[in-house]
Amino acid sequence: MKQTLSFTLNHKPYTIEADPCDRFLDVLRNDLSLRGTKEGCGVGECGACTIVINSNAVTSCLVLAGQADGADIMTVEGLSETEIGSVLQRCFIENGAVQCGFCTPGMLMSAYALLQHNPNPTREEIKEAIAGNLCRCTGYVPIVNSIEAAVKSLQS
Ligand code: FES
Ligand code: FES
Repeated sequence: MKQTLSFTLNHKPYTIEADPCDRFLDVLRNDLSLRGTKEGCGVGECGACTIVINSNAVTSCLVLAGQADGADIMTVEGLSETEIGSVLQRCFIENGAVQCGFCTPGMLMSAYALLQHNPNPTREEIKEAIAGNLCRCTGYVPIVNSIEAAVKSLQS
């Protein structure tokens, strides 16, 4: 049964009618037409659906719509409006971290959550932060390099 759910999404207030047991990934993609968040495995293992809820990176295929009620949510669509997000996006492009691009929204969101909590992470901490995000194309090195480049850029 549908209920009224209210949350902040990409800095804007939303009130929607949704079944609280729906996957929040489906609410984003189907109800709100925000298709930047991707579905890969659907079972919490690939990270393609990663979004940020209350400053934490989470896999939205495992989040129920009811859990979004009252939350502060960021998806890849909101990244360019933030300094960290726009620098990350630029550094991913400049460092060849985007190949097929399927993993990219989730990678960006994990990196965004990391840099919000830790503005000066080590390379190991960067690798840990994206450990739940699978990429078939890049071998991960350009992605880690991109996040390191973003850290440097944000500090300069
Ligand atoms: S689609 Fe959610 S973790 Fe793979
Ligand atoms: S760029 Fe293709 S899966 Fe990562």
